[in-house]
Amino acid sequence: MKRINVGIIGLGTIGAGVVKVLRERRQFILQRSGVDVHLVLACDVRRAQAKKLKLPASIFTANPLDVLRHEKIDVVVELIGGHHPAKELILGALKNNKHVVTANKALLATDISEILQVARKYHKQLKFEASVCGGIPIIKALREGLVSNRVDSIFGIINGTSNYLLTKMREESLTFSEALARAKKKGYAERNSRLDIEGIDAAHKLVILCYLLFARLIPLEQVFCEGISDISELDVKYADEMGLVIKPLAIAKKIGDDVEARVHPTLLPKNHMLAAVNGVFNAVMFRGDLVGDMLFYGRGAGQLPTASAVVSDLVDLGREVQDDNSCKLVSIPRVKKVRRMQDIVSRYYLRFLAIDKPGILAKISGILGKHRIGIAQVGQKERRRAKFVPVVMITHHSREKDLWEALADIDRLAIVKGRTVKIRMEDI
Ligand code: HSE
Repeated sequence: MKRINVGIIGLGTIGAGVVKVLRERRQFILQRSGVDVHLVLACDVRRAQAKKLKLPASIFTANPLDVLRHEKIDVVVELIGGHHPAKELILGALKNNKHVVTANKALLATDISEILQVARKYHKQLKFEASVCGGIPIIKALREGLVSNRVDSIFGIINGTSNYLLTKMREESLTFSEALARAKKKGYAERNSRLDIEGIDAAHKLVILCYLLFARLIPLEQVFCEGISDISELDVKYADEMGLVIKPLAIAKKIGDDVEARVHPTLLPKNHMLAAVNGVFNAVMFRGDLVGDMLFYGRGAGQLPTASAVVSDLVDLGREVQDDNSCKLVSIPRVKKVRRMQDIVSRYYLRFLAIDKPGILAKISGILGKHRIGIAQVGQKERRRAKFVPVVMITHHSREKDLWEALADIDRLAIVKGRTVKIRMEDI
């Protein structure tokens, strides 16, 4: 039997879940894995959390330094999130000769290289399964199961909250704020839910996945990020009529030496597998050059799915504490630079609000044509207001920059009201 002594810092939703699993399943985990995962000390600055979890005083502290300095602790689990003091605590733990397990995607997205360097220096490991896709063991799959594959693209629904919101708005006609209130109550949303809604949380996770796939830390600000708050029920309805579904997608594609990295609402055909991923579920789809197409599906947020991922890291550590595999994480970079958003090529759904008069469609399509944008489908929707009607189009593959320029021209026309809605569409 191997034993690993654990200290946890942060007893919020996930921390409380980890405590629960470790207390209720210690024997079960030991029987299945041969590793005794022993909770030595749990920490939260809010003493009330200890009461809530009925933690004996002997295994609770309000001072994180007690965890870092505890002689018996082999691994520190950082679950407070954010940059500070999480980073200092992680580095402190490594320097104090402790392995680290974290779910801190925001920190890893910017500082993973630096933290790994410190881990390497002190011959410690950094594990972060819970940072991407909640309960889905995607990190382990990419690092271990698929290690011999070149993976050149990834398409994922990797933010549970935004997928939950779009699903509830579509299926139960909830308003945006009703759906968000539910996601918060269920413990899916970030403390600052803007991170979910604006695609930033997905961008954090995409950067981590790209780091694993391409051995390059993409600067976060180079990930194009568009949230879901501008999606209206009209677009959901029109998309549905055209056999399409809007999904909050994170996309990375290696194209030559470049990588495209983007997060935005994306139209998919209804019969696509990712189109059927609803609620808080996440799914990541990619193609390995040896293994072919793969789809990972599961709960991307929530207390127990995420705790399951944290505990799997602890068991791994218990099995291989002598290993120094944090040093093996990064190999030769497979991409040179992030492709600028203006250079990507996509199909687009466009919704204009145009005056209902002969010749208007010709005018709009003329401008699109002038900018090299072909139209694959067009439809005028019912008259909604006295003067303006929605016109919906799906374009052929076009360059983003051409579209920006065309829309700037179109939106300046007196015959068009407001800003044209555009949603990118993927043929995966
Ligand atoms: N807020 C995140 C999400 C939690 O909704 O996906 C899991 O990372």
